[in-house]
Amino acid sequence: MPLICFASPSGGVGRTTLTANVARELSRAGARVIALDLDPQNALGAHFGLDLRDAFGFLATLRYAADPRAAWRAALRSSPSGVSFLPYGQLGMDGANANSASLIEQPEMLGTAVADMLSVSGVTVVADLPAGASPALAAILPHANIVIVPLLPHPASVAQLPAIEGGRFAGGGSQAVVKSRLEAGKLRVLMNQWGAPGKLAGIIAQGVSQQMAGRLFGAIRYDEVVPEAAAAQRLLGDFAPASPAAQDMAGLAAAIVAQINDTSRDRQPTPGQSQQLRNAYGLTSLAEIMPQTQSPVALKADR
Ligand SMILES: Nc1ncnc2c1ncn2[C@@H]1O[C@H](COP(=O)(O)OP(=O)(O)OP(=O)(O)O)[C@@H](O)[C@H]1O
Ligand SMILES: [Mg+2]
Repeated sequence: MPLICFASPSGGVGRTTLTANVARELSRAGARVIALDLDPQNALGAHFGLDLRDAFGFLATLRYAADPRAAWRAALRSSPSGVSFLPYGQLGMDGANANSASLIEQPEMLGTAVADMLSVSGVTVVADLPAGASPALAAILPHANIVIVPLLPHPASVAQLPAIEGGRFAGGGSQAVVKSRLEAGKLRVLMNQWGAPGKLAGIIAQGVSQQMAGRLFGAIRYDEVVPEAAAAQRLLGDFAPASPAAQDMAGLAAAIVAQINDTSRDRQPTPGQSQQLRNAYGLTSLAEIMPQTQSPVALKADR
């Protein structure tokens, strides 16, 4: 069963928001979904209504576990959305460092737990990774069907492209594994907060699309309802189902499923087919983005 990862070289790009909301959409579509928080910030659970004083979680306690397969089962929570989730748990700085060291020494603890989750019939796992290179990403990459890297339409995103393309952000572990996963077309880039205020957005989209060519998956529109839903500890599809971002999340979930089905049949869609696929599922596509693009010259003349 599939493992979908949201990972990125830099922070604040929407990994946690996308993990929670895509998990909800997949659950609505009939999958048994586990949302897995692998980021010591422990922020994912809040989207599912987790009591913020609740300190217990899966990864924070994994290094003490006798059996990783029992550890995730003991930490699993249910939510009204139908998504089951595994909070990271709360750790101080020393605990987080010790946990990282333990993951580097024993990546198989997490790898075994994730493989066990995926062996349960009908289960899809959606994982929220920490920003940058992390031992957690290195440990689960061999099991991943798709790794989605959200980018913002900000200049800083362009600077991240070499790290994304070369797989350097995927960090330690076996470089051969990292390379093979990325070459297998499992790495996809997603423009998040498309249409956020600011003139540079179009130029960034153009730069990213040129550089990333076939890897660009589409876009999630900028929508003020996204932080509002998060503040209310609700998922977008429940909080504001008609909002642009909620529609895009549903489209993204459907496009991910279609992409996984294609690659599992060893059929890599051509860029043209991918575009049709995304359009069919309603995910805001690059074709919708590009007409808004301004050239740097036009931008200069506007000043
Ligand atoms: N499409 C969107 N439109 C508007 N705001 C958004 C959108 N996506 C995410 N946000 C907001 O951007 C902020 C960062 O999102 P989020 O916490 O999901 O990112 P992250 O990559 O998980 O960050 P971190 O590196 O801190 O873990 C949040 O306030 C979220 O509500
Ligand atoms: Mg996050």
